[in-house]
Amino acid sequence: MSREAAPAPPGSPAPRPITVPDIRARKGAGPKIVMLTAYDHPAARILDAAGVDILLVGDSLGNNVLGYDSTLPVTMEEMLHHTRAVRRGTRHALLVADMPYMSFQTGRRDALRNAGRFLKEGGAAAVKVEGGRKRASLVRSLLDAEIPVMGHVGLTPQSVNVMGGYRVQGKRLDEARALVEDAVALEEAGVFAIVLEGVPEGVGRAVTEAVGVPTVGIGAGRFCDGQVLVFHDLVGLSEGPLPRFARRYADLDLAIASAARRFGDDVRAGAFPSESEVYTAPQPFGPKAGSGAR
Ligand code: KIV
Repeated sequence: MSREAAPAPPGSPAPRPITVPDIRARKGAGPKIVMLTAYDHPAARILDAAGVDILLVGDSLGNNVLGYDSTLPVTMEEMLHHTRAVRRGTRHALLVADMPYMSFQTGRRDALRNAGRFLKEGGAAAVKVEGGRKRASLVRSLLDAEIPVMGHVGLTPQSVNVMGGYRVQGKRLDEARALVEDAVALEEAGVFAIVLEGVPEGVGRAVTEAVGVPTVGIGAGRFCDGQVLVFHDLVGLSEGPLPRFARRYADLDLAIASAARRFGDDVRAGAFPSESEVYTAPQPFGPKAGSGAR
């Protein structure tokens, strides 16, 4: 798979792509890491040009784009299809692809083959795997195959049935300690960064202080080394109430609905297309006198 990039505007210097070691080196140094999910080419192009450090093709693709009610049904083929689209819009950000449910839980061979497909066919630079210390040995195997891995602990949506819902994790002292141990085990296994989702701020801080790789928080408080949001939450395209951490920076739902309503009004009124929006040809197909809009 070629690492095909979106064309640069004429005259603009090619930005240096962000690498896995660049992100790893941001622990305790440099600005906080900015990460967003992206699922398609136009969003990738815009987010990349806006200076986002990491674009994650999250398996939240399922809820946000494909209309599933969880991430569990998302397949490898769906993830690859969207990863390739995001790749084509990404010139600068590090592209990370999420290993979907049952792409790695069924054994090492499956995990290696599927993770390898993200790099080989999808053009991703790394994969993300949900789960703590029980993934440590898998992380080592992926690294043996030259596949960088981002960890993900705390509220891991693929465990929704075990957790009994999307609940904040690590509220009890024993759970919080286990979370810190999970993150340390992942670091020891070689992950280059860890997503920390849905934990109390104090736990986010404790994990961040316990590991030597950057943490990227989502609902994990202010002390992580970076923050990640879901694109659809950021721009106002999500359905239903948002979790408390999901700050909405734009109202694209309102903008899109208004555009569709105005288009409908114009079509019904005969105001679209206008004379300047039509193609013309010589007679007998050219405009006839009095043939304007209804
Ligand atoms: O799939 C996803 O969107 C994620 C983020 C919440 C980090 O894993």
